[in-house]
Amino acid sequence: MSITETRIGKSDEDGSLVYRGYPIKELTDHASFEETAYLITRGALPTRQQLDEFSTSMKTEMAVPQKALDVMKDLGRDAHPIDALRTACSALGSLDRARSVHAQQASIEAKMSVLAANCHRAPKGEKPRTPREGVGLAANLLHMLTDRKPSDYELWVFERALILYMEHDLNASSFTVRVVASTLADPYAAVSAGLASLKGPLHGGANEGAMEMLLSVKEPENVPSFLDGALGAGKKVIGFGHRVYKKFDPRALILKDCLKEILRRRGEDDKLYRLCDAMEREMMQRKGIPANLDFYAAPVFFLLGIEIPLYTPIFAASRVFGWMAHYDEQVTDNKLIRPDATYVGPTNLNYSPIESR
Ligand SMILES: CC(C)(COP(=O)(O)OP(=O)(O)OC[C@H]1O[C@@H](n2cnc3c(N)ncnc32)[C@H](O)[C@@H]1OP(=O)(O)O)[C@@H](O)C(=O)NCCC(=O)NCCS
Repeated sequence: MSITETRIGKSDEDGSLVYRGYPIKELTDHASFEETAYLITRGALPTRQQLDEFSTSMKTEMAVPQKALDVMKDLGRDAHPIDALRTACSALGSLDRARSVHAQQASIEAKMSVLAANCHRAPKGEKPRTPREGVGLAANLLHMLTDRKPSDYELWVFERALILYMEHDLNASSFTVRVVASTLADPYAAVSAGLASLKGPLHGGANEGAMEMLLSVKEPENVPSFLDGALGAGKKVIGFGHRVYKKFDPRALILKDCLKEILRRRGEDDKLYRLCDAMEREMMQRKGIPANLDFYAAPVFFLLGIEIPLYTPIFAASRVFGWMAHYDEQVTDNKLIRPDATYVGPTNLNYSPIESR
């Protein structure tokens, strides 16, 4: 297979997204997070027995060694959560060198939720939150993030968001993972690199930026003047635009409906929804640029009571399954990724002694 071919998933300019042949809406309408994680990493939906075995292996691997929690704590209270997460991931790699690649993959897939939930707490010296017995990955993650019991609908929505974050073909972090995998470095190394790539505000960091922006704009009526200022200053409006989707992001549509429905079920004022909708309409009218997944994931996470610095770590807790699928696809029939550069700099220069420069 060439570097741009994949059997894992595909996003298209026309607004379609497919995981392993399934349109995304099929999965968000019917599948659980674990079923989708199995589909993405193994290539097909699981039987009941396969799903049970997968869930058991995730539970077995979830326990995070104290040392990995300690390295996050040692970074100190000002540490960026993604820096803490990445550092813990590196530490796990150093602590787990003897096992097979497959075991290492299961380990980082399962532990990423626990690390994500604690990467903001541990640097502040707060007591780690640990997984509960007898609940699935999504419920465990939401519980560890918020320490509160969500309604069934809230949990269902959170699972939809996780499913939507899981895979997106050759996005920056998955491509980074593939480059590292192509050197045959271990999965922890590849995931550490993926996390580094996810930190940037143009990629994973956008969901946090989108929520900060929504909180600063406050009222739907403030949208026009906010956009006058932002666009007038030539700024990118976080949560809008995409390298692939140019008409609409199908993931944003799904979470937009969820946002509306959470507020309706709670009987709460729908101002947050109206604010998002006003921003989306205005951006479309002025720039023809659609809202992306991060724009609608942000208010959904906010309503679920999740602290803003944890939004990108949540992305990582889901995308780690996509990363591991790309890792496998890369190392099967591997070729070291090494683009041939086109040199466009000066040539035939003569060395001049430092004193004469
Ligand atoms: C994702 C992103 C990097 C894609 O960038 P891109 O591929 O360069 O986008 P395009 O080529 O479609 O940009 C076309 C034009 O729209 C502008 N544009 C794109 N996204 C914009 C945004 N969010 N706000 C304002 N203008 C934007 C570009 O500046 C460009 O303008 P120009 O033609 O005057 O130079 C960009 O949209 C962005 O930075 N978005 C904000 C961050 C974000 O939400 N990231 C998460 C992505 S899932």
